[in-house]
Amino acid sequence: MTISFKDRVAIVTGAGGGLGRAYALELARRGAKVVVNDLGGARDGTGHSDAALKVVAEIEAAGGEAMSNGGSVTEYEQMVEMVAKAKERWGGVHILINNAGVLRDKSFAKMEPADFRFVVDVHLNGSANCTKAVWDTMREQAYGRILMTASSTGLYGNFGQANYGAAKLGLAGLTKTLNLEGAKYNVRVNTIAPVAGTRMTEDLFPPEAFKAFAPENVVPAALYLVSEDAPSNMIIGAGAGAFHAAYVTMTPGVLLPESERTPEGIAAHWAEITDRSGEIVPQSGGEQSMAILKLLQGG
Ligand SMILES: NC(=O)c1ccc[n+]([C@@H]2O[C@H](COP(=O)([O-])OP(=O)(O)OC[C@H]3O[C@@H](n4cnc5c(N)ncnc54)[C@H](O)[C@@H]3O)[C@@H](O)[C@H]2O)c1
Repeated sequence: MTISFKDRVAIVTGAGGGLGRAYALELARRGAKVVVNDLGGARDGTGHSDAALKVVAEIEAAGGEAMSNGGSVTEYEQMVEMVAKAKERWGGVHILINNAGVLRDKSFAKMEPADFRFVVDVHLNGSANCTKAVWDTMREQAYGRILMTASSTGLYGNFGQANYGAAKLGLAGLTKTLNLEGAKYNVRVNTIAPVAGTRMTEDLFPPEAFKAFAPENVVPAALYLVSEDAPSNMIIGAGAGAFHAAYVTMTPGVLLPESERTPEGIAAHWAEITDRSGEIVPQSGGEQSMAILKLLQGG
């Protein structure tokens, strides 16, 4: 079955290049009306350019419909204005891909607090700003598909990216609660952890790998996750044609008798506490307490 985005209105942040551009082009090719947001700054977030306008021109040249937006995701008012313009022209907003991002890599020892805050502000607060700006509209429409962009750094860590990793795992956390709050309104929220050869990673990949990791290879997962039949609350990794899922799990653990509720008791039972056989994937925070209650009841 063909997945179509006909008559859907999509906002893609940071769509002036890299992954965002690839998402925007394919959404438009499949019939979506696309807001191409990009501040057009350098990789570290400094400066401005007309990157978004160029992508709009590409979409229009291919027969699609798009509008550019040069607002910064860090400015909530600008995101509200962006959503208002999309609604004015196209009557709604159905899809939001929070993709805008910057890097200020340094080991934590050398990282200035300002560089920590800036990166968290763009990725985490920026995604919250855009999501907040579309949230009421999606609830009123009883339709919304939102994709957050995490990263292997957030999920698993990476030397030199403490700021980026904190923001990225924060986005996976944001996904989980918005999934719960949006469910009743047919708003589905997922996270993607891409691997792609873009300007963000150009100094990491050798030339051959850079080609294999073309952003176009991430597009299928991103578009499926914002399609009508999308799942919700998933974390999906994608790169170079490989696709996988990541989960936040919980081991069955142990209930310790009072006499063993000591640091020494934890040490003695460490293997059972961390044994992954029979682990679960909780769908809400409440499931942690439920699992504990079950243990208390002897279950
Ligand atoms: N490339 C990878 O391997 C990889 C891996 C994991 C996660 N990611 C994430 O994917 C997303 C896209 O990255 P990319 O690799 O395409 O890099 P990219 O640098 O090409 O794209 C990021 C875009 O965001 C824009 N942007 C930055 N700050 C903005 C702001 N305040 N407001 C609006 N736009 C802003 C930039 O101008 C840029 O066009 C990012 O969130 C990145 O962290 C990428």
